[in-house]
Amino acid sequence: MSQEQAKDLMEKIVSLSKRRGFIFQSSEIYGGINGFWDYGPLGAELKRNVKDYWWRCMTQDRDDVEGLDATIIMHPQVWKASGHTDTFSDPMCDCLLTKKRLRADQIDPMSGTVVYFSGAKDVDSDKSSNDAFSVLIEKSQDPVKSATKTAKQYYRSRGLNNPEPVVEKSEEVENSTGFNPENGAQLTEPRQFNLMFKTYVGPVESEDNVAYLRPETAQAIFAQFKNVHAVSRQKVPFGICQVGKAFRNEINPRNYTFRSREFEQMELEFFIQPDEVVEAIHGNVAPADDVTADSVPQPNWGWQAWHKFWFASRIAWYQSIGLPGENLHIRWQEDDELAHYARATVDIEFDFPFGCQELEGIAARSDFDLSQHQRVSGKPQTVLDDDFRAALKEMDDDRKNELADRYQKARFVYLSNTELTEEQAEREAMKDREAFLKGNYVPHVIEPSAGVDRLALALLCNAYDEETVTDEKGKSEVRTVMRFNPKVAPYKVGVFPLVKNNPELVAKAKEVKAMLSPHMTVFYDETGAIGRRYRRQDEIGTPFGITIDFDTMGESEDKPELKDTVTLRDRDSMKQERVPISELTSRLLSLIHG
Ligand code: GAP
Repeated sequence: MSQEQAKDLMEKIVSLSKRRGFIFQSSEIYGGINGFWDYGPLGAELKRNVKDYWWRCMTQDRDDVEGLDATIIMHPQVWKASGHTDTFSDPMCDCLLTKKRLRADQIDPMSGTVVYFSGAKDVDSDKSSNDAFSVLIEKSQDPVKSATKTAKQYYRSRGLNNPEPVVEKSEEVENSTGFNPENGAQLTEPRQFNLMFKTYVGPVESEDNVAYLRPETAQAIFAQFKNVHAVSRQKVPFGICQVGKAFRNEINPRNYTFRSREFEQMELEFFIQPDEVVEAIHGNVAPADDVTADSVPQPNWGWQAWHKFWFASRIAWYQSIGLPGENLHIRWQEDDELAHYARATVDIEFDFPFGCQELEGIAARSDFDLSQHQRVSGKPQTVLDDDFRAALKEMDDDRKNELADRYQKARFVYLSNTELTEEQAEREAMKDREAFLKGNYVPHVIEPSAGVDRLALALLCNAYDEETVTDEKGKSEVRTVMRFNPKVAPYKVGVFPLVKNNPELVAKAKEVKAMLSPHMTVFYDETGAIGRRYRRQDEIGTPFGITIDFDTMGESEDKPELKDTVTLRDRDSMKQERVPISELTSRLLSLIHG
């Protein structure tokens, strides 16, 4: 798809989303607020379907995952421990001319002539400015003239009425990211900008009362790990999942809802034994090579097998709600992209019209998070593993020491990267070794972390289709169809009386609606020609349509067998078949849920 086609497609999707009530700009009547979006009646259903299905697959259908619903605002120490207070920032810089804020690591490099100005004099007064300014001109017959034009605007904004910029020098540069690609104006040096939204708890706005809106749902899961472990009586390996709002003060919200400032996440923290423990119990750690989404988890899986299982399962899940396999890609993060605690991260990316971009990240987070909360809160986050303790009892001392050495070394590597001195880190790692030899360890984590809004956008982009159809009279028209998978479609079925001026027929249609409503979302529509009503449902992605006609009422003398049957129309094939009303609910439920 060319850039023009992609832009055109996005415009159509954005327009349909607004027109039919999927997505609105937040606070639109006040001009909107950048990076915030509201979901209309259909968008709310779409998102709810996505979250409910994720919840069902992640916890209700699994014996080894528990759910959690934690607060958005937590104790600020949570963010200190997680590293967000100190390191959750993006480098940003400002355009000296427009004041627009840009992410320094996302600036397109530019090549051309840089013209440097040492200041400017005001021709109309005795005012002057000594502020240095520079402009990069990519292509021009006369770069100094073009740059001077931009510089005049800059010095005007510094209070000079009729500025005459003073050229200091000009030089050729290649691939510079020091200039605003939109206007060539100089950018400030990059500064770190923390992405957490700050607020105050209680009536006093003091530093002591600062709190943050959570930038991810994950940390609440770590902070509640011990409670959930205790009440659920789960044994490692097991997971805790959560769906909820997250907030990031993104410097450049963009690509519609793709990068928003308020969004929802669906996160699973899956706690596993460290590889040394797996080895102690089972004598080996299974290789990850043959692990697939269909694999049955094995007791001797180490972190690599679990990681592979989860990213393969997540890809299969996306396919199960209609995203085609060929538009989903996995990307292993490069070593220099990895968060400091991550052993490996795989991003699942989707071909959006604006490019192939991340939908979800599956990170192998080692034991970093629980270790941090243990250290900062002073509350142990270890588990006592009976199987491990029993294995240790059977093991000879050499083997025990070999495994304990490895565990102690890994703990030392973690501890020596904290504020502890080397001596303190050694002492703590020794304590961890002693606890390990008694059957205790800090669990490791595999984290599949998905964005609800990004997925809703992927589903909208994937569903959008236009096709030319020709009716019985030979008339052609373009039909816009949202080809949602029935599992996520906002409405599952439309119910239509063929005509609205026949009270018996309308009553029958309402009866059918009332019969289906407890089981699925039903849209009842009696206005307009039946073809128009089908088109309206096609445009919002309703996969099935039911028409109650005169045959349903037993009014066709030649077809008495059609009494109490309806036509069932398939959105994609537009084919219709007759189905007895008594079979409709079970038929539709199996079509929707597969
Ligand atoms: N706990 C790990 C974590 O939060 P992340 O890669 O920063 O990792 C996970 O976020 C997912 O959350 C992303 O893959 C994306 O789907 C979603 N997400 C992150 N930032 C977002 C934003 N500004 N707008 C919309 N979705 C976002």
